[in-house]
Amino acid sequence: MAEPFRILGIVGSLRSASHNGRLVEAARALAPAGVTVEQFSLRPVEFYDGDVEAAGDPPGVRALKAAIREADALIVATPEYNGAVPGVLQNAIDWTSRPRGDASLTDKPVVVVSASPGPRGGARAHAALRQVLANAGARVVPGPTVTLGGADAAFDANGQLRDGAVRADLTALLTALVESSGVADERRVA
Ligand code: FNR
Repeated sequence: MAEPFRILGIVGSLRSASHNGRLVEAARALAPAGVTVEQFSLRPVEFYDGDVEAAGDPPGVRALKAAIREADALIVATPEYNGAVPGVLQNAIDWTSRPRGDASLTDKPVVVVSASPGPRGGARAHAALRQVLANAGARVVPGPTVTLGGADAAFDANGQLRDGAVRADLTALLTALVESSGVADERRVA
């Protein structure tokens, strides 16, 4: 059997009941056959500090970089804080955009999703995050825009997205991510 296509889910919220975490879990459930989605918690990732970096990556950063390198692609889910990307997520991107020339994010295929209890689903953070990831050297894959508004009522008791149109968009986004990757054909189980 072919190896699975591995998508790493990175969530810009540390809350256990995070809507963005639930959105990545929904992506896991919707993933096509032969595709896995696994979440990486940003909780252990230290604050970026050039002095610490110069002395050698600390353990949380090493774990994050290794998880990104081992993944075939990423799904990054962002809350919106004051119209922007939360610091915890920006911090993780800053670490993994370095060192220049050998960064774990370089050319990594990535899709962005966002969720908010508000009506716009974190659209400003979503747009900002796409730009930050592109600036950091990741390959942001185009596809349907998944900005989940009203997120506090968007999931049923099983964690499934109630709105079929959002489910369809998220499924299409995952498919675009898999198909954009050079390894997709070798790895995917038919
Ligand atoms: C928010 N929230 C928020 N929501 C939004 O749609 N636009 C915004 O600009 C902000 N700003 C903001 C700032 C700060 C500091 C906090 C803590 C929250 C609300 C936010 O969307 C809500 O708390 C989400 O539930 C956070 O995402 P998770 O943790 O559920 O994934």
